[in-house]
Amino acid sequence: MADTIYDLIVIGSGPGGYVCAIRAAQLGLRTALVEKDKTFGGTCLNIGCIPSKALLHASELYEQTGHIFAKMGIKVGAPKLDLGAMMKFKDEGVDGNVKGVAFLLKKNKVDTFTGVGRIAAPGKVEVKGGNGKAQMLDTKAIVIATGSDVARLPGISIDEKRVVSSTGALVLDKVPERMLVIGAGVIGLELGSVWRRLGSQVVVVEFLDRILPGMDNEVCRQFQRILEKQGISFKLSSKVTSVDASGNRLKVKVEPASGGAAETIEADVVLVCVGRVPYSNGLGLDEVGVEKDNRGRVVIDDHFATNVPGIYAIGDVIAGPMLAHKAEDEGVAVAEIIAGQAGHVNYDVIPNVVYTYPEIASIGKSEEELKAAGVAYNAGKFPFTANGRAKVNLQTEGFVKILADAKTDRVLGVHIMGPDAGNMIAEAAVAMEFGAAAEDIARTCHAHPTLTEAVKEAALAVGKRSIHM
Ligand code: FAD
Ligand code: NAI
Repeated sequence: MADTIYDLIVIGSGPGGYVCAIRAAQLGLRTALVEKDKTFGGTCLNIGCIPSKALLHASELYEQTGHIFAKMGIKVGAPKLDLGAMMKFKDEGVDGNVKGVAFLLKKNKVDTFTGVGRIAAPGKVEVKGGNGKAQMLDTKAIVIATGSDVARLPGISIDEKRVVSSTGALVLDKVPERMLVIGAGVIGLELGSVWRRLGSQVVVVEFLDRILPGMDNEVCRQFQRILEKQGISFKLSSKVTSVDASGNRLKVKVEPASGGAAETIEADVVLVCVGRVPYSNGLGLDEVGVEKDNRGRVVIDDHFATNVPGIYAIGDVIAGPMLAHKAEDEGVAVAEIIAGQAGHVNYDVIPNVVYTYPEIASIGKSEEELKAAGVAYNAGKFPFTANGRAKVNLQTEGFVKILADAKTDRVLGVHIMGPDAGNMIAEAAVAMEFGAAAEDIARTCHAHPTLTEAVKEAALAVGKRSIHM
């Protein structure tokens, strides 16, 4: 192995890194992948997307069993929670997925190294294993795909038992009677929903005056009301200033965001989810002179290249939305660029999904963004209360909203709140990728009875001619 010179070494095996390595190998590049953890798949597969979706799925079925089954004539009695078994189900799902990645890497003949990777110099990656032994690998190109870590709040220490990040919130061994969530972003609402469904009283404290900042305002206002009806309570425009862990119950001090009288809220578990920060510890970036921005993100050009020749970066460690599918697409694009092809990511068409009930899915511009940019647009909206399939399934909360350019009718943004919104947004992504007009969606035959007919109706509504409303 000492004589091997790789074409590419990827550091980090999350969705950015492992996808990049596989694509590079497909293109004939001699490729190695370095991962510091025992399993491949990074945040997404081990402590992110996959375990959180497993718990969201299981807890949603638990709730449905208790509420909707009887209405449909299915009598099963009150469901009983076996949290240990639910966690095992989640862990098995994770295990199957990480093993799948190991299989794919092997199948594509990617050499894998377990240990902490450090860029010793351009073209040189040192891998230090758990036994402290280091080996030096030679390569023509390096891709940094080291992802992100939990953002912390000053003065609030996370012990992953009572004061937890998302990582601890995925492995609690009992349902907390009271959970206080700091941050009404994606993690707060997804994991807050899991524990509320399993029996916790959940209070979410958010610094801003709204939930899910950055997502369409109209969707978020309605969504907040739905979550409140489900039993989650919100303290907006508020901040947590301290957590006292000395007693049996945590005592959390909450103040108005602009300052003022504090109140104390008691909780059994506090979930800190105020964002994530790029992770590049121990990589040797400063020593080799790789530029970072003021938020610690690796700076790249339009081709994912850093300022140091032969070193590239993708995924959560660079700017942009911290999403698995964005990291994956960047992994493919950078591998193609390194192989001499024209890899590219269309950042205008990246879906964003919150996997609560109902789900929220969006793509493209929000109304607020279009207004701020002075773009004239028409909005077409269609509620699920008027969709036959949603009605018969008793899943009528939410709507589809399509925003189209007032002059050209080109679709600029699609926002869906409703059952299965995360799957439905794919239609909008394909349409937008092909530069479709709302008319194109409106004239496309959609199967009946499906929830996707609401997308067609919203497109018809852009031209003020929806049929079922
Ligand atoms: P990561 O997945 O973070 O992988 C980086 C890898 O690099 C890690 O395995 C790390 O161990 C390794 N590494 C770091 N430094 C070194 C080093 N020096 N040497 C060797 N290895 C190193 N996104 C979605 O799109 N959908 C979701 O539903 C979703 N749910 C989420 C739920 C939670 C609770 C969390 C926390 C995140 C979620 N995300 C979701 C975000 C998603 O997980 C990230 O955007 C994605 O994992 C980023 O991929 P990445 O490849 O850039 O980095
Ligand atoms: P986030 O950025 O989505 O939300 C953080 C929230 O915390 C914001 O609303 C912010 O205003 C608030 N906040 C910040 N400081 C605060 C303070 N001191 N007090 C109270 N509120 C404060 O971050 P989150 O939820 O931690 O998730 C991290 C990232 O992980 C997401 O941005 C997303 O990219 C990714 N993710 C994606 C998922 C998906 O695609 N379904 C699921 C989970 C995570």
